[in-house]
Amino acid sequence: IEEAPQAAVPAVALAAAPAAPREATVLFGSQTGNSQKLAGKLADKLKAQGFEVTLSAMNKYKTNNLKKAGYLFIVASTHGEGDPPDNAISFHEFLHSKRAPKLDGVLFSVLALGDTSYEFFCKTGQDFDQRLEELGAQRLVNRVDCDVDFEEAASGWIQNVLSAVSGSGSSAGAQAAPAATSAAAAVAAESEYSRTNPFYAEVLESINLNGRGSDRETRHLELSLEGSGLTYAPGDCVGIFPQNDPALVDDIIGLMNWNPEEPVQAGKAGETASLRTALQHHYEITVLTKPLLEKLAPYSGQSKLAQLVQPDQKEALKAYMHGRDLLDLLNDFGPWTITAAELAANLRKLPPRLYSIASSYAAHPDEVHVTIRKVQYETHGRQRNGVCSVQVSERLEIGDKLPIFIQHNENFKPPVNPDTPIIMIGPGTGVAPFRAFLEEREEQGAAGKSWLFYGDRHFVTDFLYQTDWQRMLKDGVLTKLEVAFSRDTKEKVYVQNRMMEHAAELYRWLEEGAHVYVCGDEKHMAHDVHAALLAIIEQQGGKTAEEAAAYLAGLQESNRYQRDVY
Ligand code: 2AM
Repeated sequence: IEEAPQAAVPAVALAAAPAAPREATVLFGSQTGNSQKLAGKLADKLKAQGFEVTLSAMNKYKTNNLKKAGYLFIVASTHGEGDPPDNAISFHEFLHSKRAPKLDGVLFSVLALGDTSYEFFCKTGQDFDQRLEELGAQRLVNRVDCDVDFEEAASGWIQNVLSAVSGSGSSAGAQAAPAATSAAAAVAAESEYSRTNPFYAEVLESINLNGRGSDRETRHLELSLEGSGLTYAPGDCVGIFPQNDPALVDDIIGLMNWNPEEPVQAGKAGETASLRTALQHHYEITVLTKPLLEKLAPYSGQSKLAQLVQPDQKEALKAYMHGRDLLDLLNDFGPWTITAAELAANLRKLPPRLYSIASSYAAHPDEVHVTIRKVQYETHGRQRNGVCSVQVSERLEIGDKLPIFIQHNENFKPPVNPDTPIIMIGPGTGVAPFRAFLEEREEQGAAGKSWLFYGDRHFVTDFLYQTDWQRMLKDGVLTKLEVAFSRDTKEKVYVQNRMMEHAAELYRWLEEGAHVYVCGDEKHMAHDVHAALLAIIEQQGGKTAEEAAAYLAGLQESNRYQRDVY
């Protein structure tokens, strides 16, 4: 947050700029679909103003058009340790390489999506913003960095962009407008429910997929979409708006000696709720961020908190925030002069949790299934509960309703041609979308070969959806299944070990045009599986490390290697 989100005023005066372009290029780098959606929104509005708009994922964009992009708008999210999303990697690399062209004459602006609870907040967007300027492009509107509750800040940026370009679109804008409006109306007619207007879906089924004696608990939820008009495709996600643990809320209110019934701001501007309701439903209380600590420091009776957010305390701050929540903070840095209303005004909105859909709509009309593993562990002397997963495991009953929306994800899609072979790697809950892929293929009567690599701790208790895979093997929609149970043997075995054992055949499938899908843990699993793929290509293809990397990058470019990792 080096730069305050602002920009009511264009960063350059249009009069001083070269002749205002009539073309606009909107590029997105998106992992879960948020950036893509926002980019699409901006593109629609630019079209309505009469611009000729190119809207593209960064990896699909022909970079030799960059010099004549006209207006160039970038919407990009950041992942993990400041990494670009998969479909932004190649463009990010290209722009930072010697091959990048001079971009004088291009007018640009960047919208960055991120999460302030990560150290490298919005890094990818910041990289693009800085690099475009270095290449000679002119910043039309200042970059806006969005936190997880991105809606308002993102709309603000879109508004700023539209007012900065207004008047320079073609006069055909008036004619273009009705078309754009009717297209938007058609989409809206599909379902009135969205992230900003969630559907309350009834819980039809809630099953613990782990057997007795397992140290894990994984919920299979079946939710009703009846009456919502919502549909989805394999690879899409469900967003769930969860509730905080009421016991944690009570502990916070008790510690501060506040009145739980006191009305505070919650929901849309001007709306209020009781403090208890606000903390349970509206605000994030389980994660600490640097901006929150900065804002609360003036209310703390200890100067220690103000010191902790100083630039030279980066490591100490990171260590403190790790695994701690609002209750820890309030416990550690009292006495406080803050009121309940002031606290509420400084908290982030409780963001929805995204889960990969585990069902095919064709196989389960009007239903959506998700697979949610309970996150519960102890740290800093207290038990910690995953907000959504523990709610779903412990405080949700059949017949209850959950506020949800569907997040379409174009970055994780089975091949259009059902004859194309697919290789699916999904240990743990990462297997969820592959149940959707295979159910869909079952419905289609698809002929393509399929190969699933699954792993978890124990065969007896942790084999998620085992009976589904057995049925699918029998009816032929699943051709091969490899499993790796890591804690049944002395030596750990993981999915990537199984891949290596089948290197020759796996490479043959790749050469036959198979698509590869990886879902699940990003930090360890996806990283190791990537390395295994490189090793297989190198070894079986008789390639150098560079050639193998280029081969895999080629698969990624042509959407034959897709990842849904978290
Ligand atoms: P472990 O917990 O026994 O180490 C699902 O969580 C499965 O993924 C578990 O069997 C887990 O094994 C395994 N796993 C852990 N780290 C992994 C890695 N780096 N690559 C692949 N699988 C991993």
